[in-house]
Amino acid sequence: MQEKGLEKQEILRILEKKLEKDFSYSTGSVLGSMCTEPLDLGVEIYMKYISKNLGDPGLFLGTAALEEELVSEIGKLFNEKNIIGTFTTGGSEANLIAMRIAKKLRPDIKSPEVVVPCSAHISFDKAADLLGIKLRKATLNDNFELNLTHFESLINRNTCGVVGIAGTTSLGLIDPIEEIGTLIKDKDIFFHIDAAFGGFILPFLKKLNYTIPAWDFSVNAVDSITADPHKMGLGIIPSGGFFLRDPSILQKIGFEIPYLAGGNFKHFHIVGTRSGGTVIAFWAILKSLGFNGFVKIVKRCMDNTKYLSSQINDITGIKLVTNPVTNVVGITTESGESICKIDEDLRKRNWMLGKFEEFNLIRVVIMPHVQKSHLQNFIEDLTKIIKKLKIT
Ligand SMILES: Cc1ncc(COP(=O)(O)O)c(C=O)c1O
Repeated sequence: MQEKGLEKQEILRILEKKLEKDFSYSTGSVLGSMCTEPLDLGVEIYMKYISKNLGDPGLFLGTAALEEELVSEIGKLFNEKNIIGTFTTGGSEANLIAMRIAKKLRPDIKSPEVVVPCSAHISFDKAADLLGIKLRKATLNDNFELNLTHFESLINRNTCGVVGIAGTTSLGLIDPIEEIGTLIKDKDIFFHIDAAFGGFILPFLKKLNYTIPAWDFSVNAVDSITADPHKMGLGIIPSGGFFLRDPSILQKIGFEIPYLAGGNFKHFHIVGTRSGGTVIAFWAILKSLGFNGFVKIVKRCMDNTKYLSSQINDITGIKLVTNPVTNVVGITTESGESICKIDEDLRKRNWMLGKFEEFNLIRVVIMPHVQKSHLQNFIEDLTKIIKKLKIT
């Protein structure tokens, strides 16, 4: 650290220079992120309430009450009135909380296992590693949908939890949640839905008359849901969400911190200190956009998704992996040739997609920051690359 502090202008100048290599959502070249620019109002509210700490809710009773109100709103959106929930650093922490609950509710199981689709996010591998859980991964069918027969075969007397995904990381697909629920009927197995991406898309897609299978608390067997404000909720980074049907679980296995200035309380979190500002900002975002505002944003994303899909279909040598169900477009080669070279060349031209080598696909997430004009430029470059690489 230098001895004498710098002037603000100098600090700003240095930062501008140091951060110039960062990508920005607004240029449109970030096509593979599930995060986006937060809503302006959210940023303003977040800045105003930046020092609120929900890690000590006894000191911030108003913020804690606002979090409860927000959870209740989201509960209604996910078809259950009386849930509890909490906001996290992201989907990974929310999934970790769910995995811990699954394990803790079954102390009788000495070697706990959780069954997930092999399309599950890496956060489940992390959680399994941290919690000493064995992850059993069910395969996908040729059309990238979950192989339910294989999933069922992995359930055994050590299974403490199963996971379904509503909006997969690779393709935005929805697992057959009702069917998974049927597989565990009358079994003491915790059922978690990872809707980190889909949570703030699917309720609005339904309104737009898309056929969306039941994925939320409307399925009786579902115990908890991850849904992230900082993805399609247009919330501040970082903010994830964990929502739980049975409030009594918190009393049974919540952590208690004894030293807090505001007094004891029970919580599920891995972290202690956590942002109240992100939660207040998300409350404001929901109030500002309302249901119809979200429907409008999701419609624009889906219109762009359809546009990109039709363009991909017209390029010889590549094809859609599957018809998009949400705003994710998966691209692969027609011949089965590796997609890696295409991804490499796209990166050289600053197109940052997501690459999933195990499925030989790259995918574009049509987030709210992605405009049709960005996609037109992308298609132009992609076409040139396919020609140059002689992909047929
Ligand atoms: C389905 C799904 N779950 C969980 C996560 C992890 O979320 P985070 O990066 O906010 O921890 C992601 C991230 O993309 C995701 O796609």
